[in-house]
Amino acid sequence: MAQQRSNWKSNLGFLLAAIGSAIGLGNVWRFSYMAHQYGGGAFLVPYLVALIVAGVPIMIIEYGLGHREKGSSPLSFVRINKRFEWIGWWMPVVAMFGIMLYYSVVIGWCINYFIFSFNLSWGGDTQHFFFSQFLQLSDSAADIGSIRFPIAAATLFVWLICWFICYRDVRHGIEKASMIFMPILFLLTIVLVLWSVFLEGASDAIFNHYLDADWSKINLIAEDPAVRSEAGKVWAAAFGQIFFTLSLGFGIMITYASYLPQKTDIGKNAFITCFVNCLYSFIAGFAVFGIVGFMAHNQGVPFEDAIKGGPQLAFVVYPQAISLLPSMNVLFGVIFFLMLVIAGLTSGISLIEAFSCAITDKFDWARGKVVTAICILGFLGSIIFTTRGGLYLLDIADHFITNYGLVAGGLLECIIIGWVLKASLMRNYISRLGTVITPLWDILVKFITPIILTYLLYLSLVGDITENYSGYPTGQLILYGVGLMLVCLVAAFILTLVPWKPEKLQRRHRPEEDELLI
Ligand code: PHE
Repeated sequence: MAQQRSNWKSNLGFLLAAIGSAIGLGNVWRFSYMAHQYGGGAFLVPYLVALIVAGVPIMIIEYGLGHREKGSSPLSFVRINKRFEWIGWWMPVVAMFGIMLYYSVVIGWCINYFIFSFNLSWGGDTQHFFFSQFLQLSDSAADIGSIRFPIAAATLFVWLICWFICYRDVRHGIEKASMIFMPILFLLTIVLVLWSVFLEGASDAIFNHYLDADWSKINLIAEDPAVRSEAGKVWAAAFGQIFFTLSLGFGIMITYASYLPQKTDIGKNAFITCFVNCLYSFIAGFAVFGIVGFMAHNQGVPFEDAIKGGPQLAFVVYPQAISLLPSMNVLFGVIFFLMLVIAGLTSGISLIEAFSCAITDKFDWARGKVVTAICILGFLGSIIFTTRGGLYLLDIADHFITNYGLVAGGLLECIIIGWVLKASLMRNYISRLGTVITPLWDILVKFITPIILTYLLYLSLVGDITENYSGYPTGQLILYGVGLMLVCLVAAFILTLVPWKPEKLQRRHRPEEDELLI
């Protein structure tokens, strides 16, 4: 008999862990920057549509699947049908080797910046400090250069903390950590938001750049084809962001839900997770726009010139704004970077958990040993992103994983649950546990969501074929982007080749039980 599967101690513990996975570095700067670039308040429309059309339905799929099959993603998929086991592997493999390896390095940057905050060591020229002094960025991705010691040391620290948390069983590790980290995170965020919105220049940025809508940016039926095509990109970005921010398509939520007790309201938990995560992003947006607005006002430059995208928002713009604050700069900096570190860690542990649970499910090895081995390997793998060319590799890996990996994972989930397992069967299973899911969900999962996701994949593909992402040379895009995805795919197939212990494959639900549910 397999070992008894561990359980969450409380539903709140589960929710905080799941929300902790969802709320991460992406909620703070990725969301804010997208909102600005893609039409301010108007971006909230595709974002909300994506949340309703893809976010909530797929969250319900992942929670329902994990709860019904009581397994990590490969075990859950293999219990539906042997042929889909590779998908169950591919998702956590991508989570671990596609995302966590660089995500841990970015948390490492935040730790460094947390320390820098104490004496504002980034100085006056934060751009120069970030690229030339801190990263010592090489000229191109072809030249990865030497390891940056402070980054590697902080990354090691990140892996150590994750190891310490994941090593214990969920109840004493992830749940306990989430119960401590999440309230701190919420508190820090509230302090930061309240502080930021009252800065001079903040309200102008919030009302005129964040909440004000440029509707043309999302107009898919505009007469001008150029406007339509730009709007298509905005919609695609909104869907990509929803997947990323809700940690969907990695098997994380499947794994977390597998630790839930039998009596659990899946529908309600899915709604709460999605709602809290997106509300958090919306509120954090006030802090980001507020402080950038303050900086623009302080320097007398237009808002557009003050805000920057990608990592620059957190590591160039924010430090600069912090230095300009009239008082208590150090405290502000410490709070901001601590907030990022905590948000990142609770997401990082979920990425590790999805993969380590998959391994323990299949091989029945002791959890502690598996987590230790994974963290050692993970740290070694992360080292490549701590080099002087690390930022380029990270950018390419992130582009491919977010635009293809996540979306493809979600699409396959919709097809397997919608068509192979049958949406109505899953819906009835979930509805019987509490919140009743309407048949509209079946239509979304079987038709609408997969069609939209397929279209998104097509859009990304056309975009990448016509133009090299960010102007990187084709060889590098293939090596670090496509290559990484292929390596993950091969690893997934190899893991599939190992046979399961027969008792693992016994379906938890007798078919008669399912018949009764339809
Ligand atoms: N959801 C996290 C964020 O918004 C990132 C993440 C993505 C975590 C995928 C786990 C899996 O930053």
